[in-house]
Amino acid sequence: MEKHQTHSVTTADYADPKVDQLLKHTVRNQLESLLKAKLTTAQRQQALTQSFTEAMALIFSSTQATHAQLSAAFEAMYEQAVQSMTQAQLSEELLTRQYISPTGLIMSPINCRHTIKDIYRIQGYVKGIDKAVRGMLSHKKSITILYPACGPFAPLLLPLLSYYKDQHVFNGEQIKVLFVDTHPGAIVSLRQLISDLQLGEFVADIIEEDATTYEPQESIDLLVLEAMQHGFTREGQLAIAKHLVKFLALDGWMIPHSVSIKGMMVHGETEFNQQWKDAEYCHSAHLQDGALQERVELGELMRIDKSALLQMQELALEDGVRVVSANTITLPTGVEDMSERILAVYAQITTFDGEGLDQYDSGITHPKPDMSFYVDAKPRELDHMHFVANSGDTVQFYYQLSGMPGFVPVKV
Ligand SMILES: C[S@@+](CC[C@H](N)C(=O)[O-])C[C@H]1O[C@@H](n2cnc3c(N)ncnc32)[C@H](O)[C@@H]1O
Repeated sequence: MEKHQTHSVTTADYADPKVDQLLKHTVRNQLESLLKAKLTTAQRQQALTQSFTEAMALIFSSTQATHAQLSAAFEAMYEQAVQSMTQAQLSEELLTRQYISPTGLIMSPINCRHTIKDIYRIQGYVKGIDKAVRGMLSHKKSITILYPACGPFAPLLLPLLSYYKDQHVFNGEQIKVLFVDTHPGAIVSLRQLISDLQLGEFVADIIEEDATTYEPQESIDLLVLEAMQHGFTREGQLAIAKHLVKFLALDGWMIPHSVSIKGMMVHGETEFNQQWKDAEYCHSAHLQDGALQERVELGELMRIDKSALLQMQELALEDGVRVVSANTITLPTGVEDMSERILAVYAQITTFDGEGLDQYDSGITHPKPDMSFYVDAKPRELDHMHFVANSGDTVQFYYQLSGMPGFVPVKV
């Protein structure tokens, strides 16, 4: 078990509203833990495992679970996982440190903990992973899964492994997982969760390393990766995928199988407000026809899959900035109100064999408005961050891998 620092709280820390809020959070967590401390470790672990397997049972149920049922099950899983994180006794420093690495944002464990509640993201990944695992284990005795940037809860795999164990579907002889995360707090928390869930038999290794430089020693059958945010910005999904795809076995698969990033010119009010006024929750199933018809789709800015990644050529610019070229788009002509529209970038993800997640199903596929992209309009003040073009112009998109990843449009 890693040693981790303890951090003594000073009165100066309390004066900082940001720190104060986090402390309130952890104080509440501690109080909740005290209440729950009446439970024995075995009882807490049982409740944790049960919450994980119940959420998966709903996902795999032959009758479609309602949104309310799924929300309740995922909330229970989250609460139990946070209890486990509390048991790991991370220092405030480990819990809250967030920084920018050479290839993107490294989120703190306290901010990462919410991803286990992202119902339709987890559903789309878990169903895809399950199909891929079953497919591979139908002709192989065992497989190795690599899960980089897994975060403190590794939520795309740990619930599924709990379910496999509980239902006696697969065991640790058949599935071995390499968990990789660069954040020491995520690693400490992950070790605690795996131990609490008693899933040690499935662990090949837990590695604290940057996934863009880590080199696995064994060949990988499945690469499971989700390190992206909306608009395909900020986190290092592409840099990680591009590096690790080389370690896939010849017949190995990457999950997601493909990510398609698309652009559209929209009226922000219709797209982001009016359309969702009466919706119970944001989901592609609740897109409104009227809003869809109002959009001007620009097409695909970039597609990421195994073969695209293997062929992708990097360009090195000054100051070590690395970019790859994405697609070229011709801005449509004849759209009268183009100057009133904004660019929004969204993702559609196929995890495996028809499973996946569409626009609005999750934070990671939610369209992101880009207020620096002007068509047939001029910004009030010209700034080097603004991109100004006219209908009919051809635009080449590049993707910046370094610093804060994201698209850079350039007029051809
Ligand atoms: C949003 S969280 C977890 C996402 C997780 N895959 C999930 O499905 O919920 C992001 C985690 O990715 C890790 N991470 C981001 N970039 C990384 C990199 N280049 N190498 C290793 N870990 C990385 C961070 O340390 C953080 O723990």
